[in-house]
Amino acid sequence: MSNHAPSDTLAEPAVFDSLISAARTVRENAYAPYSNFKVGAALRGKSGAVYLGVNVENVAYPEGTCAEAGALAAMVAAGETEFVAAVVIADCPTPVTPCGGCRQKLVEFGKPDAQVLMTTLEGQQMQMTVGDLLPGKFEKSHMDRSK
Ligand code: THU
Repeated sequence: MSNHAPSDTLAEPAVFDSLISAARTVRENAYAPYSNFKVGAALRGKSGAVYLGVNVENVAYPEGTCAEAGALAAMVAAGETEFVAAVVIADCPTPVTPCGGCRQKLVEFGKPDAQVLMTTLEGQQMQMTVGDLLPGKFEKSHMDRSK
């Protein structure tokens, strides 16, 4: 399957290989002078297109943004609102897991069976679905007061 073939199905290993490679490369551009913890993220949209993000920190610490948020913003800016697979990579002893806020951002744009692969630079991996990452997610139905 090429990088740009549309896909409704779960990601195959080859899809993850190219996402890992893209996330690894873009991670080098992360702006993380305060934590010195660079993170890269790559998303495969339903269309097959790939979107990249890095963490972008700020001297006013809470203004920093995570790599996942950057990749999701790139996807939405390109006109897509669904990803089917994601990779997050960092230089860490165990695979980096998305923070709570990013889990909520991921569930906004990924179906519960969308796959998220987390990996260290050395290749230690962990894979979870979006649904598993955020059980009990806050969703639109919570705001329906007619029920
Ligand atoms: N960070 C991410 O970009 N993604 C994650 O999944 C975990 C944490 C960033 C935020 C901050 O710039 C740095 O890593 C340390 O928390």
